[in-house]
Amino acid sequence: MRAEPAIRRLQELGNAELEQLAALTVDCVEGGASIGFMQPFTLDMARAFWRRIGRDVAAGERALLVAEDEQGICGTVQLVLALPENQPHRADLCKMQVHRRMRRRGLGELLVRAAERLALECGRNLLVLDAVTNGDAARLYERCGWIRVGDVPNFALYPDGRPCGTTYYYRSLEPAPMQAPRRARGSADS
Ligand SMILES: CC(C)(COP(=O)(O)OP(=O)(O)OC[C@H]1O[C@@H](n2cnc3c(N)ncnc32)[C@H](O)[C@@H]1OP(=O)(O)O)[C@@H](O)C(=O)NCCC(=O)NCCS
Repeated sequence: MRAEPAIRRLQELGNAELEQLAALTVDCVEGGASIGFMQPFTLDMARAFWRRIGRDVAAGERALLVAEDEQGICGTVQLVLALPENQPHRADLCKMQVHRRMRRRGLGELLVRAAERLALECGRNLLVLDAVTNGDAARLYERCGWIRVGDVPNFALYPDGRPCGTTYYYRSLEPAPMQAPRRARGSADS
């Protein structure tokens, strides 16, 4: 029986991890995922992307999770923590990727749950993301309880140049703080 992939947080990106993450991103783009890149998308372009991410991770501006099986990194997801100072409680979830060899076995859901736990550990209780409208990822987030905000038609392109719509989602991880009860009009000390 295959072991479940182990998920861990990377605080910095070594060469081995960078290579495996680059290969994972190339696999996803080759599979047609709209995750910010166009075809032709090479390993070198993926390495350059992950070097930039590595710098943000080392600076504490992003939190990075990877999932590993016996063949190496097979999944990843990020939280963008560097947001305007009036949004200290919030993070953006992005760049969720599961290698095609590991799809449809629940790893995507494990990564979403792990990212939600990590957000709370980082002091963030409101998450926002966008995903291709009605795509595999959109179904995943809806299954995990994310709230659909709305769709933007023709927001982005698939790697082959076809347009795709984007749907925004949010997830509130803890109940909103209790509001002070409103006083009735005309109460004695109003
Ligand atoms: C979106 C993505 C992350 C989902 O990853 P995944 O690991 O396949 O996700 P899950 O396995 O949790 O769920 C996928 C499907 O498999 C099903 N599934 C999960 N475990 C299963 C199992 N043991 N047996 C059968 N089906 C299973 C789920 O119910 C789900 O079904 P659905 O297609 O009807 O929604 C993956 O498709 C991916 O990396 N896509 C390319 C990159 C991308 O688009 N990223 C999103 C950026 S916003």
